Amino acid sequence: MTDYIVMFSKAFPNDATPITFDNFAKAIEAFEATLITPAAPFDQYLEGDAYALSAQQKAGLKLFIEKGCSSCHNGINVGGQDYFPFGVTERPTASLLPRDDKGRFAVTKVPNDEYVFRSAPLRNVALRPPYFHSGQVWSLKQAVGVMSEIQLGVKLNDREKDDIVAFLNSLTGQLPKIDYPILPARTDTTPKPSIEK
Ligand code: HEC
Repeated sequence: MTDYIVMFSKAFPNDATPITFDNFAKAIEAFEATLITPAAPFDQYLEGDAYALSAQQKAGLKLFIEKGCSSCHNGINVGGQDYFPFGVTERPTASLLPRDDKGRFAVTKVPNDEYVFRSAPLRNVALRPPYFHSGQVWSLKQAVGVMSEIQLGVKLNDREKDDIVAFLNSLTGQLPKIDYPILPARTDTTPKPSIEK
């Protein structure tokens, strides 16, 4: 697509041959870096707006810290910093374990790494069921219940679960506006897609 040659030359002005696989990756990465979701109520709260969270969300935040959720879900993305076993205090029921995916074990082959996964980042978590690698849990409240029992050995009551869910809802930020990318037009000289053999 000849237009791409123009676009890539503009985007990578110092490259003699701007159309390279590495530059495709860089371009996609630069786009992905814009996919941030700032100004979640929790962010606003951290920045000093005491009213950005409701009383219930504040109660949920307190539980999230005091019960120990934040020991694994912390940092700028409220998780994603490290790997942990899925099932610390209790083995999850079989239906919650992903089929054909033993997590870190696939990489390290160390038996202790069976069902060890990255602690999920919890930003925007309310927007993306189903939960866990198995994708078997559709309700955030149920996911909170599972986590407290298998990761912390704690049985939360109904109100506590609702409070934590309310807090998790405060992690939903402002979604980016994305312009739908229009591909340049094909020309007679545009090669057809090919798969290298
Ligand atoms: C010992 C570390 C640890 C603790 C403590 C912990 N979690 Fe997790 N959490 C994880 C891991 C690891 C996963 C990913 C499991 C998977 O993908 O199968 C996860 C996944 C989740 C998910 C699903 C996110 C998604 O996108 O699928 C939610 C929600 C969650 N945790 C909330 C909590 C809450 C609430 C608490 C406290 C009650 C808690 N976690 C305590 C490690 C932990």
